[in-house]
Amino acid sequence: MTEPAKIWGVGVGPGDPELLTLKAHRIITNADVIAYPAPSEGDSLARSIVADYLSGAQKEIVIRISMDPARFPPRDVYDQAVEEIGRHTASGQSVAILCEGDPFFYGSFMYMFEKLAQLGPVEVIPGVSSMMASAAALQTPLASRNDVICVIPATLETDDIQTRLDAADMAVFIKVGRHLAKIKAVLQKAGLLEFAHYIERATMMEEQRSPLSEIRSDTAPYFSMILVHRRGKAL
Ligand SMILES: C[S@@+](CC[C@H](N)C(=O)[O-])C[C@H]1O[C@@H](n2cnc3c(N)ncnc32)[C@H](O)[C@@H]1O
Repeated sequence: MTEPAKIWGVGVGPGDPELLTLKAHRIITNADVIAYPAPSEGDSLARSIVADYLSGAQKEIVIRISMDPARFPPRDVYDQAVEEIGRHTASGQSVAILCEGDPFFYGSFMYMFEKLAQLGPVEVIPGVSSMMASAAALQTPLASRNDVICVIPATLETDDIQTRLDAADMAVFIKVGRHLAKIKAVLQKAGLLEFAHYIERATMMEEQRSPLSEIRSDTAPYFSMILVHRRGKAL
């Protein structure tokens, strides 16, 4: 029996195509099949990052994640994608699965990873994550000496956020979106609002950044995050 062909989970970075690693570039340009997540309607960010590197001859699998998870549970969608990927690897075709940022940093790829590993060899290629890219774009060092960094999903309840914020030197809020007002209120109460930096679409053409205190809106785009260091600066 022939071995199934290889599968890669490839981190493609936060948006700027030049932040792709050399290894990711080699794999993406050589894979027989490219798979990537996309919203139920519209384009895939992960694919758009590498669009210039695709030959056009590669088969593409679009993994559409519905905005209505009750009717279309993401796990069912990922299971179907795993099956489709399995059919390709069984016939000898290698598959690169594109992941925005890093695959194992809150990436949806990890849901498929265990099932994919049952099909054959899966290699994970790390990518530049949005946390690193945002710190660089904001010119805000993340941590020095014994600093503790806490990555806090803004989707958590207020009490939970406060507890975790209290325990951290540097807090990085992800999934800010419609939780922006809640995060601003928590930071104000903790006396940290003046130190907080906001960024959206880091490293993309549409990147925006500013002190959080200057943001008037109560909501933010999905691709946004807030960085705040307890001492103002990690220096
Ligand atoms: C599901 S997580 C995926 C993170 C990704 N795997 C990574 O390594 O960056 C999505 C969250 O990451 C953050 N994010 C991802 N890309 C971003 C970008 N280019 N600019 C700002 N925040 C980003 C946002 O907070 C977003 O809600």
